[in-house]
Amino acid sequence: MRTLRDLDPRGKRVLVRVDYNVPVQDGKVQDETRIQESLPTLRHLLAGGASLILLSHLGRPKGPDPKYSLAPVAEALKAYLPSVRFVPHPPGSEEAFQEVQGLSPGEVALLENVRFEPGEEKNDPELAARYARLGEAFVLDAFGSAHRAHASVVGVARLLPAYAGFLMEKEVRALSRLLQAPERPYAVVLGGAKVSDKIGVIESLLPRIDRLFIGGAMAFTFLKALGGEVGKSLVEEDRLDLARDLLRRAEALGVQVHLPQDVVAAEAIAPGVETRIFPARAIPVPYMGLDIGPRTQEAFAEALKGAKTVFWNGPMGVFEVPPFDQGTLAVGRAIAALEGAFSVVGGGDSVAAVNRLGLKERFGHVSTGGGASLEFLEKGTLPGIEVLE
Ligand code: 3PG
Repeated sequence: MRTLRDLDPRGKRVLVRVDYNVPVQDGKVQDETRIQESLPTLRHLLAGGASLILLSHLGRPKGPDPKYSLAPVAEALKAYLPSVRFVPHPPGSEEAFQEVQGLSPGEVALLENVRFEPGEEKNDPELAARYARLGEAFVLDAFGSAHRAHASVVGVARLLPAYAGFLMEKEVRALSRLLQAPERPYAVVLGGAKVSDKIGVIESLLPRIDRLFIGGAMAFTFLKALGGEVGKSLVEEDRLDLARDLLRRAEALGVQVHLPQDVVAAEAIAPGVETRIFPARAIPVPYMGLDIGPRTQEAFAEALKGAKTVFWNGPMGVFEVPPFDQGTLAVGRAIAALEGAFSVVGGGDSVAAVNRLGLKERFGHVSTGGGASLEFLEKGTLPGIEVLE
């Protein structure tokens, strides 16, 4: 990839695609990790004499929608870069173009959500051309979005001299360690709601790993595929055959698969609801499994011991609703406790768990990409990487 070291930013207007898709509640950013992780690139360019025009998406709006405005992100960013101004117009519009013309070196403009532009997700070449005229060089630092072949990621990169930012470089370097001769035993912990989101990565990882841990709601599809009674737990009925097939392939390849033995269950997902513990394969209706249980937490921690490489993506339960956050926290603790292991965590809830535990330093790499890190492990590259090569 071409990197920032190949770019002389002096006197240039540099367009930077960042990933500021951060949680916002009541007009306030709840987690600034992605903002903080973009600062080395932004500061480097500003110190080199550039002015910056920042592009990002936020959420999945269907067209312009004030609920998904980047205005709260501009406020949060100002605490780090006081020269930031927010441009409240669609980023491909004439108004946005006019506003950034007057930027002086050292100044920063954050444009409104790129997903307010109908051509963004279609990678419309006409929209990419309108982005391209905003700056003289393009820096892609949105690792978390590098799996999206959208106009602000890939389209514009083809039209301007394009470079990888420091965050892109750091992510690709760390995640590449998982692809190039990772030290064994290699353990992968997957959670989250759906098997269907993880099929590609499971298929690609199976021949390369030693232990696979499955938690989160996706575990119920596997448990039911094995004949378990899972009550009202979330199951992807159309993936039962696939789940059986993945388990057969894992066995043939000698991969140890660890599924939940017990679960924390309730009749509804609500804070403080009455909970019961059931064996994971005998959950009575009307209960649904909402987290891995205490025996599973212990069993997973025990079976992780000795692992030299660990990749973790996805929560073990409904992390955002206590008490169903405990399984995810337990897995975070177990991975952090491993001695001499290179561990990588990616994905919103898993990273939030590591931050809540204050154990970030115990991980080899904390990725700002959820879907992007999974797709990178599956394919070894991403559209946003290919376009910079
Ligand atoms: C993420 O949070 O994973 C990235 O910002 C990508 O968001 P998306 O899945 O809505 O494209």
